[in-house]
Amino acid sequence: MDKADLNELLQAQAHVWNHMFSFIRSMSLKCAIELGIPDIIHNHGKPITLTQLVAALPTLNPTKACNIHRLMRVLVHSGFFARQKLGECDGVREDGYVLTDACRLLLNDNPLSVTPFIKFVLDPVFTGPWHLLGAWFQNDDRNSFETAHGKTFWDYFRHVPQLNNLFSEVMSNDSRLVGSVLIDKCSGVFEGLNSLVDVGGGTGTLGKAIAEAFPRLECTVLDLPHVVAGLQDSGNLKYVGGDMFEDVPAADAVLLKWILHNWNEDECLKILKRCKEAISNGEEKRGKVIIIDMVLMENENVKDSVSNSVETQLYFDMVMMVKTSGRQRQEEEWANLFVAAGFRDYKMIPIFGVRSLIEVYP
Ligand SMILES: C[S@@+](CC[C@H](N)C(=O)[O-])C[C@H]1O[C@@H](n2cnc3c(N)ncnc32)[C@H](O)[C@@H]1O
Repeated sequence: MDKADLNELLQAQAHVWNHMFSFIRSMSLKCAIELGIPDIIHNHGKPITLTQLVAALPTLNPTKACNIHRLMRVLVHSGFFARQKLGECDGVREDGYVLTDACRLLLNDNPLSVTPFIKFVLDPVFTGPWHLLGAWFQNDDRNSFETAHGKTFWDYFRHVPQLNNLFSEVMSNDSRLVGSVLIDKCSGVFEGLNSLVDVGGGTGTLGKAIAEAFPRLECTVLDLPHVVAGLQDSGNLKYVGGDMFEDVPAADAVLLKWILHNWNEDECLKILKRCKEAISNGEEKRGKVIIIDMVLMENENVKDSVSNSVETQLYFDMVMMVKTSGRQRQEEEWANLFVAAGFRDYKMIPIFGVRSLIEVYP
């Protein structure tokens, strides 16, 4: 082999190794959360030295203290912590760790915290099915979550309160962020509406935010009976336990946040038809459906600056394949779905990072 071939071979090997070990990024993050490192650094109030960090870790086995810098090194590299110069002692630079913006989303008291999401996604119940993805491609199961657990994703969590609560927390924290953007940047979406149903609205975090921001809007949160059991109606917000495949309460608008990506085309059609009935009130061209979901970017048109976002969208698509019958959809796939469900027009605004606001009109 000549030198150029050898170089290419070494680069190819590095590429494979990098991919093979990419789970270490997420597992190191999970470990930092379990040790409480983001909160310790935050509570310290200024850059924290390695010695101070080690001393502040309440449950650390002292024989493992010498390994903390190795964990921190990888997390600095991944952009969750940064090092700041504190000074010099005998010509040796002393650094302290600080949080990056991404790490602020891991703090326990941050109402937008992504920590429950990380704990949920990296729980063995959820990572197990990934080991069966190859088997799933060769069997008749709907998804590899069902191959692993013999139940649908929704049935499984219904019977494990701890994971069910964690899932609700994941959705609530996300809905707080999405709700702020929706109310702050897209309040026009609610103009002229007297009533709205948040279908699959979980425990109502987004419903509550909308009801508070628009006191004249009658808001209903529809979700499975066990999800809304015990939740109290208040003011212009009420909860309904039911099945969106069977019936959606009548309203001027229906909101579907992170719903349709869980379901295949036939299932989405059923849901969209129920939504169309709910907004029509006997008239053909009345009301609208408001969807918050991803619109997959086309790979070929992607520039470097957005390639991270594309990767995140592709990962979410794989997550849907592993846990549900759903998928992330490109604009054309969305459009086909809307036409098949009897809608006339739609508008897409990419306003929530990798997700979009889609208004669909009958
Ligand atoms: C991914 S979560 C989204 C929750 C919420 N919309 C959000 O984004 O925070 C999907 C929701 O759909 C609900 N769901 C699943 N099947 C349903 C059904 N047949 N009828 C009503 N809700 C359902 C789940 O209980 C869950 O709350």
